[in-house]
Amino acid sequence: MKQFRLHNGEELTIRRAKPEDAPDIVAFIEQISAETDYLTFGPGEFGITAEQEAQFIESVIESDNKLMIHAFLEGRLVGQLTFMGGARPRTRHVGELGITVLKDYWRLGIGTELIRYCLEWAKQSRVVRKVNLRVHSDNTGAISLYEKLGFVCEGTTTRQFYLDGTFYDCIYMGIEID
Ligand SMILES: CC(C)(COP(=O)(O)OP(=O)(O)OC[C@H]1O[C@@H](n2cnc3c(N)ncnc32)[C@H](O)[C@@H]1OP(=O)(O)O)[C@@H](O)C(=O)NCCC(=O)NCCS
Repeated sequence: MKQFRLHNGEELTIRRAKPEDAPDIVAFIEQISAETDYLTFGPGEFGITAEQEAQFIESVIESDNKLMIHAFLEGRLVGQLTFMGGARPRTRHVGELGITVLKDYWRLGIGTELIRYCLEWAKQSRVVRKVNLRVHSDNTGAISLYEKLGFVCEGTTTRQFYLDGTFYDCIYMGIEID
């Protein structure tokens, strides 16, 4: 567990997910999916029950190249980051990061602290050597956050996301861990 002081003076706690967090996570996902179009699912589309989520968290805890962390303000779950490393010897060192913060808490520094925590964990893991992510090309706020923390753009694919009759490009970003 780590604690941080945010821009507004509030104390943020970041810790790894526990199986008993599962119901709160499902509620968090349902809320955030209605607050942003930048995720790969919308309201009601996550399709994971609290029981399945708890099993997933168990598997993350047992793994040395997966991470699921949560940010709390006064005990309330306000942000989440996941990193999933590959399963096979040739891909164990690389994986993909996903991050979300509840809309009411954007621009307080929570996303920054979640990613810093992940990068520090990756360095200490001695397994993870590359952190990748995918982001909508028009998600300029998230792109600036990633660039600020050292991620670089590595390419673009077209038609990666489809929403309300429109295709969106996706930017691949990454940071090497040494
Ligand atoms: C992207 C997201 C995780 C950022 O979290 P956050 O807690 O607001 O990020 P921070 O407060 O640490 O922001 C750090 C910096 O990133 C940049 N940034 C973040 N959001 C921004 C926005 N909406 N517009 C412009 N810049 C932004 C700024 O440089 C900011 O620094 P500043 O506030 O000192 O100017 C959050 O907005 C979110 O969950 N969005 C919806 C889901 C999403 O887009 N996830 C990423 C999918 S790839």
